[in-house]
Amino acid sequence: MKAAYFMKHGGPEVMQYGELPDPTAGDGEVLVDVHAASINGVDWKVRSGTYTPIEGFPYVPGRDFSGVVAALGAGVRDFVVGDAVFGVCDIGQEGAYAERVAIEAAIVAKKPASLSHAECAALALTGITALVSVEDTLELKSGETILIHGGAGGVGSFAIQLAKHIGAKVITTASAVNHAYVRALGADVIIDYRTQDFAQEVSDCDAVFDTVGGEVAKRSFSVLRPGGRAAFIASGASAPSSPRPDVVSLRPKVGRDRPHLERILALVAAGTLRPPEITLYPLSQAAAAHAVSEGRHLRGKLVLSVR
Ligand SMILES: NC(=O)c1ccc[n+]([C@@H]2O[C@H](COP(=O)([O-])OP(=O)(O)OC[C@H]3O[C@@H](n4cnc5c(N)ncnc54)[C@H](OP(=O)(O)O)[C@@H]3O)[C@@H](O)[C@H]2O)c1
Repeated sequence: MKAAYFMKHGGPEVMQYGELPDPTAGDGEVLVDVHAASINGVDWKVRSGTYTPIEGFPYVPGRDFSGVVAALGAGVRDFVVGDAVFGVCDIGQEGAYAERVAIEAAIVAKKPASLSHAECAALALTGITALVSVEDTLELKSGETILIHGGAGGVGSFAIQLAKHIGAKVITTASAVNHAYVRALGADVIIDYRTQDFAQEVSDCDAVFDTVGGEVAKRSFSVLRPGGRAAFIASGASAPSSPRPDVVSLRPKVGRDRPHLERILALVAAGTLRPPEITLYPLSQAAAAHAVSEGRHLRGKLVLSVR
């Protein structure tokens, strides 16, 4: 099969495109002919080695995909060959930047005809992350105020729509060029983080959802009301320690399961969520897509067109 992979950690230029052996479906797995694979903010960190160092090369990155079931492993009864499906590779596994991926059937969902493969790939991991963060972890409620950092990004743009659906007031940070985009997603208040200091502009929030990390994460505690809670997905595997004893710092546990994928589809079908703005790259151009992602000023999602 054709795949995009790297043989050593480094910059975007270490991404290669070529032939690798096909995976096979193990017990309980489906083999999927991948049509589209999305690029996530974590992918360039995996490639550069700043995430968990990789031990075995060639390494095929890529977490979420959409495609068609090509073969069934032993014991798989909920799919047939030819079903269109989408999903996110299991925790600790990647490999979606390829023409084929083998994945546990239980964490895959059927792709509706109303959404393209690119849209389903773009929605999968960002959707699960936003759902787990905003609903399951922050337990955001109607009438509350939430500050979402990085509202124009993959996870942030999903989170804005979800928070609005819940009935919260949404404040978000974005570059000026993305203000119309985040306003259209439902943001009530938009802070241009390049010219405004969010910590000066915002106070008494019930919740913060930080998708940016670093100094932004550290400074976010100050905008919470007493009893407020903050969730962080770009500050490593643990929540940053809070300098305030009266607020909660949380690290969402982003798993993989079919119910969350089906919930994404239900929200899209209801018109509550719309797929993000998508920029397509051919699989052979994964290096160029990584360079854009690593620039960290992406609007919407980058998706690799695989076949
Ligand atoms: N399982 C997990 O826990 C999980 C899952 C998914 C993602 N993540 C992590 O979450 C983070 C976001 O992922 P993503 O895929 O949404 O990234 P992304 O699509 O690349 O989004 C990056 C966004 O960050 C914004 N940004 C950059 N610097 C900023 C700043 N100082 N203040 C406010 N916004 C800023 C950019 O906004 P402008 O263009 O407007 O400047 C851009 O829209 C990544 O670190 C990723 O590793 C974790």
